[in-house]
Amino acid sequence: MDMPSLRIGSRTARLPVIQGGMAVRISLSPLATAVANAGGVGIIAGSGLSVREIAAEVRQARAATEGVIGVNVMVAVRIFKDLVQAAIAEGADIVIAGAGFSRDVFTWCKEAGVECVPVVGSARVAKLAERFGASAVVVEGVEAGGHLGTDRLALDLLPEILEAVDIPVILAGGVVTGADIKRALDAGAAGVQMGTRFAATVESSASDAFKAMYVAATDEDVVITKSPVGLPGRAVTNPLTERLARGDYPDIERCRSCLKECGKEYCIIDALERAQRGDVIEGLVFAGSSVARVHDVPTVDVLMARLVEEWREASEGTQA
Ligand SMILES: Cc1cc2nc3c(=O)[nH]c(=O)nc-3n(C[C@H](O)[C@H](O)[C@H](O)COP(=O)(O)O)c2cc1C
Repeated sequence: MDMPSLRIGSRTARLPVIQGGMAVRISLSPLATAVANAGGVGIIAGSGLSVREIAAEVRQARAATEGVIGVNVMVAVRIFKDLVQAAIAEGADIVIAGAGFSRDVFTWCKEAGVECVPVVGSARVAKLAERFGASAVVVEGVEAGGHLGTDRLALDLLPEILEAVDIPVILAGGVVTGADIKRALDAGAAGVQMGTRFAATVESSASDAFKAMYVAATDEDVVITKSPVGLPGRAVTNPLTERLARGDYPDIERCRSCLKECGKEYCIIDALERAQRGDVIEGLVFAGSSVARVHDVPTVDVLMARLVEEWREASEGTQA
């Protein structure tokens, strides 16, 4: 028995697995390329990159794979339009727009023949996205790592989104194993988007200290923290999240005016960049609630083969 493929508009991935975009600089071309070459959808995170950087990342990925690659950019980023247009110009297949809603992105994608896939947290927004021309939607639950747009579990949200739209619905949040993928597909999802599991792979551009923190994390280590983006964020607890919980915010050393609207309590880009580079004391280690189920740092090939195997075992188990 083979895992079903994932069709998003005119693009088809052999496996129903999207590697979620992870900023800042966690999912770059090495991770996206490895996932696309293994049959999934590889996503480069654009938030926090310059236009030149995103163009270079997409160019490298495009040269290294014939698989499906895309970018994820938060709508909240000031240079959202420039980042999306640079990625489209370099041959991205898919644009995933998170943290906010943009009408314009549908037009840019349509004109270029690129699939537009917004991240949604409600049936109302999913419907709106379909009307504007979305090729699919990602429904992300509260289990997810990074910024959170809902307080509801992905599998609780899924039925109402499926009811609301006719385009493929991709479930994100808490998916770590092939058995989790089976559960999502059985519930009607066309595929899954996984972040946390892919952050701890060899090809992820997170520092070794970041990956080690994932492997060591227990359920008690996962916290919801405040982000100046205006949304809560899920992270692994560390001295920085303890400071943030007390309202003791690190000084902003240099404001790059990177967000359209920023609470300016502290610099989110600086905090995420620090962790990516290896400072897991003063940096922010975004992670999903399932990080306690991540026990190793495999290559993407090993991970993808494992996911298929686990999916197969779970499928045979339910047939017996
Ligand atoms: C370290 C990290 C960074 C993330 N950065 C982004 C981002 O820049 N944009 C976005 O839309 N989602 C971001 N996410 C969410 C993922 O794309 C994905 O939807 C989510 O991780 C799925 O939940 P999971 O972590 O339980 O697999 C991030 C997640 C993690 C773990």
